[in-house]
Amino acid sequence: MGMKDELDTKSQPVQAEPKVKDKEVSAPEDVEALDEMEIDKKRHLNVVFIGHVDAGKSTTGGQILFLSGQVDDRTIQKYEKEAKDKSRESWYMAYIMDTNEEERIKGKTVEVGRAHFETETTRFTILDAPGHKSYVPNMISGAAQADIGVLVISARKGEFETGYERGGQTREHVQLAKTLGVAKLLVVVNKMDDHTVNWSKERYDEIESKMTPFLRSSGYNVKKDVQFLPISGLVGTNMKTRVDKSTCPWWNGPCLFEALDSVEVPLRDPKGPFRMPIIDKFKDMGTVVMGKVESGSVREGDSLLVMPNKAQVKVLAVYCDENKVRCAGPGENLRVRLSGIEEEDILSGFVLSSVVKSIAAVTEFTAQLQILELLENAIFTAGYKAVLHIHSVVEECEIVELLQQIDPKTKKPMKKKVLFVKNGAVVVCRIQVNNLICIEKFSDFPQLGRFTLRTEGKTVAVGKVTDLSSSSSA
Ligand code: GTP
Ligand code: MG
Repeated sequence: MGMKDELDTKSQPVQAEPKVKDKEVSAPEDVEALDEMEIDKKRHLNVVFIGHVDAGKSTTGGQILFLSGQVDDRTIQKYEKEAKDKSRESWYMAYIMDTNEEERIKGKTVEVGRAHFETETTRFTILDAPGHKSYVPNMISGAAQADIGVLVISARKGEFETGYERGGQTREHVQLAKTLGVAKLLVVVNKMDDHTVNWSKERYDEIESKMTPFLRSSGYNVKKDVQFLPISGLVGTNMKTRVDKSTCPWWNGPCLFEALDSVEVPLRDPKGPFRMPIIDKFKDMGTVVMGKVESGSVREGDSLLVMPNKAQVKVLAVYCDENKVRCAGPGENLRVRLSGIEEEDILSGFVLSSVVKSIAAVTEFTAQLQILELLENAIFTAGYKAVLHIHSVVEECEIVELLQQIDPKTKKPMKKKVLFVKNGAVVVCRIQVNNLICIEKFSDFPQLGRFTLRTEGKTVAVGKVTDLSSSSSA
């Protein structure tokens, strides 16, 4: 199982167990090792595949690996046979990403699958998130590592509708992705080959026109940050090359590889203060920590701090994917070998930080929250308890004071005093946690300043850190 959702109140301050367990999908044929030069030349983007259960995320991810030459025909034939034996004929492409037996039997992704491929300009790490609502915490861990998202939507009759309904994961995933810092979305309208769709322009337009206002209300600038395109993940149409006019006469836009290639994301500052939230750690000739660099760069020999415990450490080695590198910048998923700290003294949620401009550690902060859907009968007021998910931190928290309610129309604070709010409200409040956590103001480091609140396994609110309390110990 992937990341654990709720905290046991009796347990350690921060979850000591690695919360995020991804499965690395290594292509059967050895992918050539990248040398350092190449790493510097191409940009690197993490792309998370999100969307409702069975939309075709794993199939599309698998097809990408196949089309980029990382899976040979023999392996595909083997998967075809295995899928057939499990009476899941059409699932063979998904087997490239779904490597666990449980996933293959049930046809559902559980753990975030991870794989790599390249286009002209970019090295991509694919994070294939599960769509099933039981695994939303795993989806959150995948989306928290991503720069851009591919939202997969099934065009098949009835499937788009179920995904889009209240309680469907299309909505929840979009809202989570936005909050977790997924800046751009490619919305792929999938299963265009299905007999209920048959590359119908009407169906495609219907989905685009229903999704657009929803994406806008979730905070995406649809013109700038969102691109729609039709594909068939199963057949591989409009993916590596543009769809043929004989199949789809009305599409004049790009194929998926082109769209991925040309996505522009704001460059993170490689010279900024170093920040890498730790998602996992283990012992291996020293202490190795894993995480994604959110700001700055790291180099062999650097002196850094592990926060919030202010432990001084030295960088012995840096690994990017499977390769040892001398230096790595923002956006990279790394393993960093450290001296000066024991593995037991690190918990996931800690942050590897520069010494000079170190990250703050706080037990209280101010945030602007958007309430999504509270549990039945619950009211959101001072004393409300939830589980806070912010970068790799999972902590029980309590709302200590509601400060202001924001008028959704004018986006300005409302005058009257606010004691409680309901679903859909936007509210500024103070939030307290029991243990020191390392976070940032959203305006300084968006990736370290946006979060979700969950109760009983349901996301009840998404928010941004607006102020760190003055009791900061850093
Ligand atoms: P979860 O991981 O459980 O959230 O599902 P998923 O989004 O990864 O979906 P998956 O790739 O496992 O595919 C689900 C089903 O949809 C399988 O039967 C696929 O064969 C089918 N499917 C996926 N893409 C296409 C497509 O482009 N066309 C058609 N006809 N079927 C597809
Ligand atoms: Mg899947």
